[in-house]
Amino acid sequence: MKLIAPSILAADFSRLGEEIRAVEAAGADWIHADVMDGHFVPNITLGPVIVDAVGRVTKLPIDVHLMIENPDRYIMAFARAGAAWISVSIEACPHLHRTVQLIREAGARPGVVLNPATPLGTLDWILADVDYVLIMSVNPGFGGQDFIPTSIDKIKALAGMIRDKGLSTLIEVDGGVKEDNIAAISQAGADILVAGTAIFGTADYTQTLKKLRENMSI
Ligand code: DX5
Ligand code: ZN
Repeated sequence: MKLIAPSILAADFSRLGEEIRAVEAAGADWIHADVMDGHFVPNITLGPVIVDAVGRVTKLPIDVHLMIENPDRYIMAFARAGAAWISVSIEACPHLHRTVQLIREAGARPGVVLNPATPLGTLDWILADVDYVLIMSVNPGFGGQDFIPTSIDKIKALAGMIRDKGLSTLIEVDGGVKEDNIAAISQAGADILVAGTAIFGTADYTQTLKKLRENMSI
């Protein structure tokens, strides 16, 4: 079962409630919320107040993608705001195991995120403790960037690693996912496909989600 998670970063924030209801009605599986702090990444986006507002207009699980320094400080706030899944960037977590535990204690499902140039070997001693791994297929910070082609081999290698260890960790892929590459990304082993501009940049979300899902299952 593959999931599509529209990234609200590409939504019209002046009509956020409407946008979320529209992607839910169009068949989205999760809502992906990109949290950026202007330190770990060169952009500032949203915090727990917005996640709480999102939760009031949808029943879909909210997937909070933290691109922030010192995430430990904010995990409880995001969990209380309604985050069902919370992922943290491995590059921002010197005590990653503790951070992952904090997410679980807060009642959310923990995930770890790897930047494009971060090797899979960094996952060796954390993979069994997380529910999902997010492979960044663009450099984090902005929507609308091109998919980095080497991400395909990275996803394949991660899928192999998960299989070899006998785990059922989910693989999420985020950045530059479009109608024309979602088949290859899915075949490489992605379970959760994040898409921002490929969804919110189109006029008919139902048609777009349908097309993405068809291509994803090729
Ligand atoms: C980038 C974010 C992504 C972004 C994806 O740092 O993590 O979730 O919104 O946007 P698209 O799908 O437009 O590349
Ligand atoms: Zn994201």
